Amino acid sequence: NKISFLYQFDFYIIGDNMNIIFANWKMNKSVEEAIAFINDLNNNVSEFGDDEIIISPPFTTLSEISKIKDDKIKLCAQNMYFEDKGAFTGEISPLMAKEFCEFVLIGHSERRHIFKEPNQLINKKVLSALSHGLKPILCVGETEDERKKKKTDSVLETQLKACLKNVSENQIKNVMVAYEPVWAIGTGKTATPEQAQEAHAFIREFLTDMYSQTTIRQLILLYGGSVKSDNAAELIKEKDINGFLIGGASLDPQLFTEIIKNSK
Ligand code: PGA
Repeated sequence: NKISFLYQFDFYIIGDNMNIIFANWKMNKSVEEAIAFINDLNNNVSEFGDDEIIISPPFTTLSEISKIKDDKIKLCAQNMYFEDKGAFTGEISPLMAKEFCEFVLIGHSERRHIFKEPNQLINKKVLSALSHGLKPILCVGETEDERKKKKTDSVLETQLKACLKNVSENQIKNVMVAYEPVWAIGTGKTATPEQAQEAHAFIREFLTDMYSQTTIRQLILLYGGSVKSDNAAELIKEKDINGFLIGGASLDPQLFTEIIKNSK
């Protein structure tokens, strides 16, 4: 029952042997450090099989990385504003992101919690990304307190409903959803494979109320939150986990490559 994805026309199609391994560098790495990492990764690309490797580096490094990266490595913007251009100091527009990236991360937990981004804003970003041909990776997840109060499902439901408002059946085919429990991000506390699978299955089930079953069966669901080389193998066995969104462990090319190898 393991998953793989091929681009067919513009959309992902689930097939057999392919996972999405996503590196979120957050606010880390100079241009020089980024180049060194990518050179290292380029050398290992032959070992990745059909896996899709997506790197989300700081904006300041995108230009240089795009010049040297192997074609197998795809780029993702860590965030963007929904307007095309104008007086929005400090923001990056979808047009700017598109110069280098195929993907854009939207609604990451750190955006939601540190920068107070509400679901409505995240929804505008998702719609804007899609209308510009960028593929959004929408992050959702509950806090520790919400999990303790058994509110995980209702939190996911609220986030998905609000953030995907007005996203059409055709557009959802270009969206990936990342389940990232807030309590697991950067804490070393990974969700157990059972907890992650349960949330992923819930997300898939809930979205079949909004979209057709055929489409949602193909939707790529990533797990994020303290993924390391020693827990990747167990997590990836779960039916609804189609790949990982990795923060801390993606900063070192050796550790990152190990996760890719252990996710087979
Ligand atoms: P982490 O971060 O792997 O350091 O927990 C995950 C994320 O923020 O996506």
